[in-house]
Amino acid sequence: MTVHFIGAGPGAADLITLRGRDLIAASPVCLYAGSLVPAALLDHCPSGAHVVNTASLSLDQIIAEIAAAHAKGQDVARLHSGDLSVWSAMGEQLRRLRALDIPYDVTPGVPSFAAAAAALGAELTLPGIAQSVILTRTSGRASAMPEGETLAAFAATGATLAIHLSVHVLDRVLAELTPHYGADCPVAVVWRASWPDERIVRATLATLESAIGAEMERTALILVGRALAQQDFAESRLYAGDYDRRFRPVGTEPRFPDAS
Ligand SMILES: C[S@@+](CC[C@H](N)C(=O)[O-])C[C@H]1O[C@@H](n2cnc3c(N)ncnc32)[C@H](O)[C@@H]1O
Repeated sequence: MTVHFIGAGPGAADLITLRGRDLIAASPVCLYAGSLVPAALLDHCPSGAHVVNTASLSLDQIIAEIAAAHAKGQDVARLHSGDLSVWSAMGEQLRRLRALDIPYDVTPGVPSFAAAAAALGAELTLPGIAQSVILTRTSGRASAMPEGETLAAFAATGATLAIHLSVHVLDRVLAELTPHYGADCPVAVVWRASWPDERIVRATLATLESAIGAEMERTALILVGRALAQQDFAESRLYAGDYDRRFRPVGTEPRFPDAS
């Protein structure tokens, strides 16, 4: 028996890995994390599967569901939105499972920042503009930010920011970022990336609030940084015609003469 933690992706039902889909289909128990996991993914469950929305359950109740499946020798598919490496509450579940000696494995998923960048048709790391992406959030009721992990500190790097769980405090986010990036810095908000009702607003730090209006939906990502609207950047050396590399030796004395 194994608990399969599976990244369910950002929303579109076909943005799940083949491995994740097959594990759902092979597991007689499926626990899924509320409305951010698309209902269509549950169609992969085998008929008669025990399917539970864990949105209203406590951690104790979730672990009780898993322990009951363990006692019956039944595999569990545990679905969380996006990828499990960020803001999934997987860590605390794994700690309980280790204490109970219940086996688990983890299958990654498409994170929402990647789905939002895809919706924008944007590369977040452009040569000479930004070479880092910071995945962050602001403090919420469930999780305070550790000291030092402030928007101002991240903004001081000039990296592209992907700010989660924060569209409801947009005014504060804009106020903290503007001194570092400048009022003309491009910003985009993507609501429900990859869902049928996906919505995108592009603006600058100065104009975003008025561009958004009264939008209340909270499942949104704020992307900030000069890479979002750059046309004027150097091409990467990787595909330059004169760039000698292992898979494309160039010149009379290539660095990797034996590569093919
Ligand atoms: C609890 S976190 C889950 C993050 C998830 N594990 C991931 O890999 O992206 C929920 C937050 O992720 C962001 N998010 C999740 N799905 C999204 C989507 N389809 N479009 C935009 N933002 C999304 C929002 O900021 C939302 O408040």
